[in-house]
Amino acid sequence: MTVTEAPVARPVDVTALVEPDRVHGAVYTSPEVFDLEMKRIFREGWVFVAHESEVPEKGDYVTRRIGGEPMVVARGKDGVVRVLANRCTHRGNRLCNAEKGNSSSFRCPYHGWTFGNDGKLVGVPMRDGYGERLAAVREELGLVQAPRQESYGGFVFASLAPTGISLLEHLGNATKAIDRLLDLSPTREIQLSAGWMKHQNNCNWKMVMENNVDGYHALFTHASVYDAVRPAKVSHVPSKVEVLVRDLGNGHSEIDYEPEYTRLDEEFVWYGRLPREKAPAYIAAMEAAHGPAKTHQALVSGPPHTLIFPNLFLAEMNVMTVEPLSTGETIAYTAPVLIPGAPEINTKTLRRTEGAMGPAGFLIADDGEIGQRNQMGLAAQEPEWVVLSRGSDTDVDDETGRVNRDKSAETPQRGWWKHWAGVLAGSRG
Ligand code: FES
Ligand SMILES: [Fe+2]
Repeated sequence: MTVTEAPVARPVDVTALVEPDRVHGAVYTSPEVFDLEMKRIFREGWVFVAHESEVPEKGDYVTRRIGGEPMVVARGKDGVVRVLANRCTHRGNRLCNAEKGNSSSFRCPYHGWTFGNDGKLVGVPMRDGYGERLAAVREELGLVQAPRQESYGGFVFASLAPTGISLLEHLGNATKAIDRLLDLSPTREIQLSAGWMKHQNNCNWKMVMENNVDGYHALFTHASVYDAVRPAKVSHVPSKVEVLVRDLGNGHSEIDYEPEYTRLDEEFVWYGRLPREKAPAYIAAMEAAHGPAKTHQALVSGPPHTLIFPNLFLAEMNVMTVEPLSTGETIAYTAPVLIPGAPEINTKTLRRTEGAMGPAGFLIADDGEIGQRNQMGLAAQEPEWVVLSRGSDTDVDDETGRVNRDKSAETPQRGWWKHWAGVLAGSRG
């Protein structure tokens, strides 16, 4: 019998995988790349974890994973939302096994250690076994809190690295997209309280995210939608509309419909051209809070279609996040954006979400199929490269970022990959 050596994991030379207008197929298929992404992007960088509206009451919690690590996001009895490691500090048992709930404490099923919803260790059964060290054990072995945690617009982000740039530095121009969403709410608050739909996608997590800002595919991938549902909010033929794509920097990017909506100067084009009369309470609340002019502007501009690196997509009146499982497996989570005190709007949003994002919905099923086929195609080793040069000659830099007036340009993708390569090479933390 011969003994074969296990393959040695080679360090990843990211710079060899990313060029300004093309990327190597290995960025989607290499396990070494995936492991490095989990470290540099998901554990060391800022990632979206939850929205504060998911845990509105003291004791509410949701469980999540960051780069494969189980976390629990809990609102403590002091009202503070904390991102905590979902791991018993005794011998490592996963503490909280439900997806969400409300509890004053978390009791480990193994030996019964009990932690408060603020993470403090409050109960150790058969305490005598620790003798005089009991007080120290209780003091030192509270749940581990994410070293950094910050919120913007109720979106809670965390980083498992103790140092690095602030959330605001990371978000940069993308804060405007979150503001644009909040502008549609009389209270400038939104609720992600309807629960998340989950789709298992048999493709790399980056395909799911990149596809959200791909303005090229709609007429082809979603041909069945346009056969069945007319009219679309605006034409998907790039030359017929003033719709931009924009690289916002830091890997964030968007498809910006606002110039077209502004040109039309028509409210709710983005919302099936809803007549004002169908949402009188919402309109009244908006005008009372923001005044008629700002309300009109917000209802013309509509919500953002913006990708926030690495795992948050503001999908107009939905939000999407992804959980990477392996090079070719991803869970995509989508939730409708609800507006407090606006039942007319929320009911319509729920129906629209079902139609677009639900299991029998039009849009996301098409995208999932395309992602899977993409991953299958990339199993061919040749050609080695994925081409992202569309529109590279017509990108223009302005104060908002790098813009292309052709919505089918691959400007968002070029921005994503430039940032991705920098993060993986260790240039940011
Ligand atoms: S592993 Fe949790 S109490 Fe022992
Ligand atoms: Fe799509």
